[in-house]
Amino acid sequence: MADATTATLKINDSEYELPILRPTQGPNVLDIRKLYGQADVFTYDPGFTSTASCDSTITFIDGDKGELWYRGYPIEQLADQSHYLEVCYLLLYGNLPTAEQMDDFERRVTRHTMVHEQMHNFFRGFRRDAHPMATMVGVIGAMSAFYHDSTDINDPWQREVAAIRLIAKMPTIAAMAYKYSIGQPFVYPQNELDYASNFMHMCFSVPAEKYNVDPALARAMDRIFTLHADHEQNASTSTVRLAGSSGANPFACIAAGIACLWGPAHGGANQACLEMLREIGTVDRIPEFIARAKDKSDPFKLMGFGHRVYKNFDPRAKVMKESADEVLDLLGIHDNPTLQVAKELEKIALEDEYFIEKKLYPNVDFYSGIILEAMGFPTSMFTPIFALSRTVGWIAQWKEMIGDPQAKIGRPRQLYVGEDKRDYLDVAAR
Ligand code: CMC
Repeated sequence: MADATTATLKINDSEYELPILRPTQGPNVLDIRKLYGQADVFTYDPGFTSTASCDSTITFIDGDKGELWYRGYPIEQLADQSHYLEVCYLLLYGNLPTAEQMDDFERRVTRHTMVHEQMHNFFRGFRRDAHPMATMVGVIGAMSAFYHDSTDINDPWQREVAAIRLIAKMPTIAAMAYKYSIGQPFVYPQNELDYASNFMHMCFSVPAEKYNVDPALARAMDRIFTLHADHEQNASTSTVRLAGSSGANPFACIAAGIACLWGPAHGGANQACLEMLREIGTVDRIPEFIARAKDKSDPFKLMGFGHRVYKNFDPRAKVMKESADEVLDLLGIHDNPTLQVAKELEKIALEDEYFIEKKLYPNVDFYSGIILEAMGFPTSMFTPIFALSRTVGWIAQWKEMIGDPQAKIGRPRQLYVGEDKRDYLDVAAR
């Protein structure tokens, strides 16, 4: 198949030629777009394990090698040498910015960090104990009611403004969701601070006291944002693309992405992972939890382990692990029991036949929670921080889709296995 340009599909006595599409990287792709029209068959792939839903130039993952690139740049280099807003520029526009372009981009993002003052009332409608993700789904969706001048998806300028608004306001909204949940006053953004410091400031400062953001912690926060910024066609990104394919406005699409991210199999895993590590509590209880993870009759899974695409170490987890060590060191936390359990759990799982055979490695969520907890975030803020970081990826993918002349409304088909046609029966006859 290496040199072939088509593949042949034989169904009974008929043969169908399927074009083979060649990527820059990754496996070849069989183009089945005309198959139904020609052969009257659908393909069946629940969970999209073998299906490419679009072409994209943004992010590449090699799951076997454990590699992740944004626009061709390895994630390790970006995490080490770049910073989140530069990565945002890269994801949105395709190349690293010049100094001038960076200044201009930073200025545009900074000018949009405040939210419409009336949005404060919207927040106050939520119950105090609302999960910040619930608040964020609602508030981001509501942005389409506040920013009418950036909802026309056919106007490239409005798309651009919507992108900048979302990237700029997401930290403000996430911080407000947090402040509201703990009964503290909202803190306005401070535009002289960098993106990560500003977010920490809005989360942790109070009007009664001065708060200085530790630059080393802000750097660790920025790296968390970078590591989560995009991950090609994962569940929430595909949700954003599917919502956007109908022509829905960008704020509605990103709200849909946040809703999808919330689940424990996806972005909710960072909260679930830390809760699991706390529940395990001590190293001696690890075997009990490993046994549960392997037991088919028990729905329990090791949170922070496994990935649909990575069948080798998640490269983000490697960076995150180093960051966890650095942050705990910096904060003088040397005997953190959760970190001890995490390290030992990782060691035991990586030597266990079940995990080796199924290629289950720690993923990005395994260590991020430990860092966020050490920084002072409650577990309920872990997934909102993921959402904040992923917003640029969602919006870059959405913009790519809207600009793609081949894009169509997403409309999967099905394998119907329900009742055959039958006649309605009057209630007396049932
Ligand atoms: N613990 C124990 N067994 C597992 C785990 C786990 N964490 N993950 C997968 N398996 C088993 C699974 O039971 C299955 O076994 P079998 O072949 O005997 O049926 C096999 O490994 C393959 O797993 P799968 O569920 O078919 O794989 P998937 O690609 O559908 O799911 C996943 C990937 C990430 C949803 C899954 O590994 C999982 O639920 N992990 C825990 C949640 C988690 O950490 N999610 C964060 C993912 S990374 C960040 C993000 O995407 O947001």
